[in-house]
Amino acid sequence: MSEMLNMLQNAVAGRSPIVYVFSPEEERILRGIREIAAQNGTPVITWSCVRGLDGEDAATQSPVEAIKTIIAKDTHGMIVMCDLAPFLNDNKTLRAIREAYNDGRAKGDRTIFLVCAENIVPEAIKKEIHFLEVPTPDENEIVDIIKKTAAEDSSLNIPEDAVREITLALKGLTENEIAYVLQRACKNKESNKDEILDEIFSEKKNVVKKSGFLEFSPPRWKIESIGGLDNLKQWLFKRQHMFTREAVEAGVPVPKGLLMMGISGCGKSLAVKTISSLWNIPMFRLDMNLVFSGMYGSPEEAFHRALKTIESVAPAVLWIDEIENALGLDDSGQRIASHIFSSFLTWMQEKPPLIFIAATANKIQALPAEVLRKGRFDEVFFCDLPSKEERADILKIHLIRNNANPDDFDFKMLQIMTEGWNGAEIEQAIISARTEAFYENRPFNQRDLETVMSRIVPLSDTMEQQIKAIRSWAFSRATPASKYGKSAAKR
Ligand SMILES: Nc1ncnc2c1ncn2[C@@H]1O[C@H](COP(=O)(O)OP(=O)(O)OP(=O)(O)O)[C@@H](O)[C@H]1O
Ligand SMILES: [Mg+2]
Repeated sequence: MSEMLNMLQNAVAGRSPIVYVFSPEEERILRGIREIAAQNGTPVITWSCVRGLDGEDAATQSPVEAIKTIIAKDTHGMIVMCDLAPFLNDNKTLRAIREAYNDGRAKGDRTIFLVCAENIVPEAIKKEIHFLEVPTPDENEIVDIIKKTAAEDSSLNIPEDAVREITLALKGLTENEIAYVLQRACKNKESNKDEILDEIFSEKKNVVKKSGFLEFSPPRWKIESIGGLDNLKQWLFKRQHMFTREAVEAGVPVPKGLLMMGISGCGKSLAVKTISSLWNIPMFRLDMNLVFSGMYGSPEEAFHRALKTIESVAPAVLWIDEIENALGLDDSGQRIASHIFSSFLTWMQEKPPLIFIAATANKIQALPAEVLRKGRFDEVFFCDLPSKEERADILKIHLIRNNANPDDFDFKMLQIMTEGWNGAEIEQAIISARTEAFYENRPFNQRDLETVMSRIVPLSDTMEQQIKAIRSWAFSRATPASKYGKSAAKR
């Protein structure tokens, strides 16, 4: 039995007279209720403000009249009221629901389902209502939808050997979205599995966009664009195939999350951006400024909705940049938004396995021990200033990105000149050298780079004390992202 049918069946078995079903999928819910009703041998009656109550006159288009009629006629079975939510700010409707609840409790043979696309249960009737938030189709339902869609349109190309992966990728979409995306993704006979999966992921991107505060981060960054940080790269490589269905079925524990902390400009955000292309799963960045902005209701509610949305598009990576701000912590680790903090920790514990959290933090001393405790994140990495070898790697990556040939440069000299620099500063020097040479209509060379470098004062000079403090704090609590470990930046 699907998760949806289970939820509906349990509500009926628990004899709740009023069940509020929160879902945008009215048709699917109605079908589910009819199925449960058929199993229980009870009739189904529907209501909408346009049609009124089945078999009754137009007066029952008013929700109060409809409920009065149900009570007066002692109607039994399952009554489905579609889109009642907009009427719930009316006192008479609320009173009618309370009376239906009392009457239903006494009779015990009637369930009124309020099927609504919005979640707005007024405080006044919260106690009377059994609330269900029905998730989008589970894997069994998705397989049925695939079969049905394929049967209805024989021209669709749904490769037999890809059905399992397609099923997993379609999780989080509604029934209609699934049918629509299958039509689009599989209409080309030539399409291979990867093209079909790409199409599905792009549809998911649209679903998430609608939520407002989650932003799709395109899989544009390759792991090769990170210089150094070998421990971290190894870690990511080893987990490359863990989000496939085969790995899940084989019982391989799916990684939960990664926290990267460290000195500014050393590649934390860059490393996160490479995960999605390496693991081939979509990544969404949670914009906490929008969550806290109040534009989407209270921060707690908006945060809850963001987590629900990301759950519905699993498998996915959830990127939370500067988690110390996201969790509502100030510089000293005091909690300014403790509800969010505690609900995040609980969620991390219970979240569906196919969501991977990639978090970054700068003010690491602000992170409370609960966040760092083993079991929350699989690994906590510390990104320090790059070592001599790593600086050479970073220089090479950015020289190539700026159309220069690394062989034309004296790396020994550049390594010395960049001692104590972070990756962002190295990148900036190369971009400046290129810009200045471009002004003179020529490619940039070693001398341009040296001139620019001699003018740059790295962060590590101006923030020496802070960096020392971050290091001593981090090395006892985190794994070095660099294979050169503690001695990295000094070399
Ligand atoms: N290890 C690296 N390899 C290649 N490029 C790097 C590296 N570190 C930093 N950079 C360059 O510097 C830019 C800024 O780095 P990034 O945003 O990842 O730093 P960060 O650690 O997230 O800093 P912040 O704490 O300020 O957010 C990157 O986009 C990249 O171009
Ligand atoms: Mg960053």
